[in-house]
Amino acid sequence: MKKFEAKIEKLKEKFDDALEKARGQKKSLQDLRHEFLSRKRGHITRLFEELKELPVEERPAFGKLLNEFKNYVLEKLSKDVSVKPAPIQYEAVPREPTVITAEREDLTLPGRSLYWGAPHPVMLFAQEIEDIFLAMGFSVAEGPEIETDYYNFEALNFPPHHPARDDWDTLYISEDLLLRTHTSPMQIRVMEKNKPPIRIIIPGRVFRREAIDPTHLPMFYQVEGLLVDESVTFAHLKGTLEHFLRALLGEKIAIRFRPSFFPFTEPSAEVDIGCTVCRGQDPGCSVCGGTGWKELLGAGMVDPQVLKNVNIDPEKYSGWAFGLGIERAAMFSHRISDMRTFYENDLRFIRQFSLK
Ligand code: PHE
Repeated sequence: MKKFEAKIEKLKEKFDDALEKARGQKKSLQDLRHEFLSRKRGHITRLFEELKELPVEERPAFGKLLNEFKNYVLEKLSKDVSVKPAPIQYEAVPREPTVITAEREDLTLPGRSLYWGAPHPVMLFAQEIEDIFLAMGFSVAEGPEIETDYYNFEALNFPPHHPARDDWDTLYISEDLLLRTHTSPMQIRVMEKNKPPIRIIIPGRVFRREAIDPTHLPMFYQVEGLLVDESVTFAHLKGTLEHFLRALLGEKIAIRFRPSFFPFTEPSAEVDIGCTVCRGQDPGCSVCGGTGWKELLGAGMVDPQVLKNVNIDPEKYSGWAFGLGIERAAMFSHRISDMRTFYENDLRFIRQFSLK
């Protein structure tokens, strides 16, 4: 009986000794736990086996002693405050260099921006023309693309069946209606509604039965200019057009006035500019045909008969008018050799003009 108690006593000493040595070492503490508590060969486990061989009446007392010892061991092992986890050693692990593969998204790339569109180059150019005239005190108006024979021809001094009508290859809608062949009918509409002084420009689309080539399209834009006041002379027309063309196409542009004929102006002129596409250097130039000059606009003093048609007194008032092809002017300004490029809708071409 005493023997059992002494065994426990001895084991306790052994345990305390071993614990003292194992302090702070995880591995040794684990071994200690194994040595005392292992289910097969642990010292305490063995004593429990031995307990079964003791006389029945002695078992409870020693059982109690043994349990106390077991709890003591458990508690010491788990609660040993001096057991500090050994500091973790970090090892430098060589890393594979980062590989940017084709599959990987590059989140640093800027987003794809949407192209919101822009005004058409012809519209941008019309705007430039408008700005120059607005600065000179002109206003801007627009008019109908479908006109009557009266406004397109008769009021502009083309009598019915007059051969001059043949110069405007007219697209008729009916006997009396047509697609306007020029913006000049707006001279009449403006003068019918307004009394002089009149200073106005009228941009808009016009239509002609025309064979398509690098400088001709069946639909194109014109801008009409009209000025009516007292004592207006041809010198005013010349001065205004020269200022306008230099502001639009550059100070150095060559300009020449040629006598011409329009039923609604007298005298009449056509204004040519020096070809900016070949600069007069290419005998085969598709724009000027090698002449070095290209007609840009028609102009003249408003015919007294036209003023009479709109009840403006030609004895008191005089005026001038001009009509200019917008695409043509844009071609010279940007040195574009084929007018058709404006309407082929190739975005690579069109976008260039709005990337300001
Ligand atoms: N309307 C003429 C044309 O289309 C141009 C023009 C306008 C001429 C005004 C004289 C005065 O060719």
